[in-house]
Amino acid sequence: MQAMPRQNVFRDFGDAGALFRDERALEPEYLPELLPHRDAQVREIASALRGAAQGRRPENVVAVGKPGTGKTATVRFVFRQLSEYSGKAVPLYINCWEYSTRHAVLSRISHLLGEFMPRRGIAADEILDRIVEVLKKEKKVAVVALDEIDRLLAGREGEEKVLYDLLRAGETYGTPFGVIGVTNNEDFLARLDRRIRSSLAQREVAFRQYSPQELKDIIGARARLSFHEGALSPEAVPLCAAHAAKNGGDARLGIAMLWKAGKLAEQQGAEKVSAAHCKKAFAAAEASIREEQLSRLNGIERRIIGIAGESGGKGITSGELYEKLAKEFDETDRTVRNYIDKLEALKLVSVEERPRTGAQKGNTRIIRIPTA
Ligand SMILES: Nc1ncnc2c1ncn2[C@@H]1O[C@H](COP(=O)(O)OP(=O)(O)OP(=O)(O)O)[C@@H](O)[C@H]1O
Ligand SMILES: [Mg+2]
Repeated sequence: MQAMPRQNVFRDFGDAGALFRDERALEPEYLPELLPHRDAQVREIASALRGAAQGRRPENVVAVGKPGTGKTATVRFVFRQLSEYSGKAVPLYINCWEYSTRHAVLSRISHLLGEFMPRRGIAADEILDRIVEVLKKEKKVAVVALDEIDRLLAGREGEEKVLYDLLRAGETYGTPFGVIGVTNNEDFLARLDRRIRSSLAQREVAFRQYSPQELKDIIGARARLSFHEGALSPEAVPLCAAHAAKNGGDARLGIAMLWKAGKLAEQQGAEKVSAAHCKKAFAAAEASIREEQLSRLNGIERRIIGIAGESGGKGITSGELYEKLAKEFDETDRTVRNYIDKLEALKLVSVEERPRTGAQKGNTRIIRIPTA
């Protein structure tokens, strides 16, 4: 009896999708060959690091800008070019969300340098000594990028001491390091000790928000890598770019939306990614943000939303709302007002000021659930 070819669910899927050529180009970690609209930042950081390529002390850099403005991509891009160009500089990339203590950062540096140390039981000072020894022996200059560097200030333990370690190593041990601090927190520099600040911020590189047109270029370039020709309707990239522009100029968001729209189209077996797929992707993302915000509200905040919801499109006046809440919670009107302001800022309720009716003076506030 001849064996039937066995059905395989994975084989049925095929390899490359009908729409996607290569989904990886839409993953957040993907580093493209070109970074449109970041030439100036690439050049500025590279020029600060020139010394390291010659085995000398580079200048330190702070890169600051809002989320999704290409800071991480730019630093990784310059690092890739630096290691291609010179064997003397050793670029080391560290994300301080993952490595957020002095000990963790130093352990990570020694690990990236190929030193295998037991994770525990070795004091930070000792790890630093080892790092310096290795760099001296190999006559190399380490350039350490500390991405999300503000995490080092998040705890109470003074983890930013690692910045002293690295910035002073030139004087202390005769082994200079370059440090690139990357942050989306504009207050970060102000919170640093003055001496650390001035040596870290030898160069400050600003990443301003992308314009809608710039986002179109960036997302369009990624689209060409990741989708087959003709798989996108002409509206798809401009819509994702406009959505990203409206939400803080975040390129990451625009790229993620294009991916999501592609997945929705794929699931439906559509021939093209349409405007409707994009809009559905935006709505799904907004719903999940909203769900997350709702999950973090306290009891009284939830109740405010509940009451506003029960009032339907007409809404409820602040006076009526205070009255209802006073029966259930022991909060002053002033506190309730603060909660309403917070919910308004999160766009979970809308507030309309309206002149009072009748003999009463001043305004009253009408609270509603915003319509999408
Ligand atoms: N100029 C650009 N060219 C191509 N891709 C870009 C560009 N700018 C950003 N991107 C892409 O957008 C996404 C977000 O960029 P990146 O991670 O560098 O932002 P970031 O400024 O580090 O944000 P955050 O502050 O949230 O860490 C990445 O996938 C990145 O590849
Ligand atoms: Mg980043």
